Amino acid sequence: MVNLNMSKYTIITLDEAPSTNSWALENISCLDDGAVVYTAKQTAGRGRYNRKWVCDESDNIYMSLVLKPKSADNYPFANLTQYLSVVVCRLLSSEFLLNARIKWPNDILVNGAKISGILAEAYTHNNKIEAVILGLGLNINMKQETLDKIDQKATSISAVTGKNYNSETVLKKLIDTFYESYDEFVSLGFSCIKDLYISKCDFLGKNILISENGEKKQYFAKAIDSDGLLIALNENNEECKIITGDLLC
Ligand code: BTN
Repeated sequence: MVNLNMSKYTIITLDEAPSTNSWALENISCLDDGAVVYTAKQTAGRGRYNRKWVCDESDNIYMSLVLKPKSADNYPFANLTQYLSVVVCRLLSSEFLLNARIKWPNDILVNGAKISGILAEAYTHNNKIEAVILGLGLNINMKQETLDKIDQKATSISAVTGKNYNSETVLKKLIDTFYESYDEFVSLGFSCIKDLYISKCDFLGKNILISENGEKKQYFAKAIDSDGLLIALNENNEECKIITGDLLC
């Protein structure tokens, strides 16, 4: 394990870990607010709904941000993954000139294929959220042969640009971009990213299929409200607010 003190935040670099989210949860009491746990080799990465997050020998980002809010009052827990998805889109556009789009609620796609996914997990004590582990997988140099084995359309930065990158350099830029607007996001909440989030949404104005608790339902994605919820019309044209769920297509 190597501790790199890049900028204001500690980056803990692990040679290998089953899952950076699990490692962060197991070591939560030793980790400061803002710490980043990173590895380029994750052997049992987890995605949302307990799916597997694939890792190969290429240099990619598997990382978990540890956030320990001083006060839970008004902390925008529900919008953290949306904030991170906007940060990833900004990074992909500014550093790699990629037109990244968001698939509800926080998958990041390039050319219709998933390039990055986010898994937020809460650490609670006495029924209070004491920390949030914000896990992110970003395919940087993943090879086409690995991407082809993933059970959904997937891509990597190098698969699109044809170049290779150093994942630690990309990680530093990502973390800097995250913390650039983090304090503003904590004080203003979703309103400070609403326009940007909407501009990156791939699904608004389209018919969508949402899977919620194993049930698949058809909607028309109408808007994103001031809390970051998806306003959708169901088959009877009634307005529904969608909090989470998985957008299938
Ligand atoms: C998803 O799209 O379903 C979320 C994928 C999240 C993967 C990242 S990789 C780093 C961190 N550790 C994990 O085990 N999962 C997250």
